[in-house]
Amino acid sequence: MNQMLELRGRWTLITGASSGLGLELARHIAKEHGGHVVLVARRRDRLETLAEELRSRYGVQAACVTADLSRPEDVERLFTEATTGRDIHAVILNAGVTYWGEAMKLGWSDFQAMLDTNVTSLVRLSTLFVPYLIERGTHGGLMFVSSVAGLIPVPYQAAYSGTKAFVTSYGQCLAQELRPKGLSVTVFAPGGISTELLVNSGLSNRFKAGDIGVMSPEACAAHAVRAFVRRKELYVPGLVNQGLALVARVLPRGFLAQRTAAIYRPES
Ligand SMILES: NC(=O)c1ccc[n+]([C@@H]2O[C@H](COP(=O)([O-])OP(=O)(O)OC[C@H]3O[C@@H](n4cnc5c(N)ncnc54)[C@H](OP(=O)(O)O)[C@@H]3O)[C@@H](O)[C@H]2O)c1
Repeated sequence: MNQMLELRGRWTLITGASSGLGLELARHIAKEHGGHVVLVARRRDRLETLAEELRSRYGVQAACVTADLSRPEDVERLFTEATTGRDIHAVILNAGVTYWGEAMKLGWSDFQAMLDTNVTSLVRLSTLFVPYLIERGTHGGLMFVSSVAGLIPVPYQAAYSGTKAFVTSYGQCLAQELRPKGLSVTVFAPGGISTELLVNSGLSNRFKAGDIGVMSPEACAAHAVRAFVRRKELYVPGLVNQGLALVARVLPRGFLAQRTAAIYRPES
């Protein structure tokens, strides 16, 4: 399976497509690769607006599936709806949420929702789509959107950092298991991206577009799709983030956690 992942004229499913990186991934795949897209998120109006834009501007097909990925029944329905009447060739599991603050102040139900969205839905969708993609035998691919926070422990984003460490490890393991079966798995691990995630968590007060290591969602999406079609197993975009990933491999994790704690500690 050496050939590049071909997206042109084929369907790619993208979760978290209503804003930020997911929205730009859909635009990039439609514009630069002529790929059809299944857009997934909770905010239907945003998905419909994007779908219309992609159809009219780039002449691709675009479908919308509304699903709350923290709800197991929505995840099962998403698979059925997405695969009815179309052949999915590629799957990008991008949806994610974070919480910035002391770990002990994260409410239990908010933690559960984060775990269900960032981890459980990703594993469940993998177990549904992997046999489906293997059965089709078209050498498709999956991409998991992780984070540099999955490579380095990030205090004050403790639960999020833990979910992304899982995503990175799970994805790299699946990449090895599935390559002989003709499927590629790409783990994409960006640093900061100027999206609603930073605004919703309050982190936009600390990190903003133009800061070192903070990318625009457009630039980040271009890196992600490039890594995906090249079937990279782990890709960290941007020199600053790549430097951090390198440092994370050589420095003691305790030291790294101490440094990131100093950067992320909220003002009391
Ligand atoms: N922004 C960063 O600094 C950064 C850095 C590294 C990694 N990442 C990762 O990049 C990915 C995309 O994040 P982003 O920065 O683009 O954030 P964003 O703009 O907030 O987008 C998050 C997307 O996930 C969807 N989503 C959230 N909860 C959902 C749920 N329960 N069910 C279905 N969809 C849900 C949202 O759609 P609805 O609200 O419409 O459902 C939205 O489309 C995430 O996995 C994030 O962890 C982000």
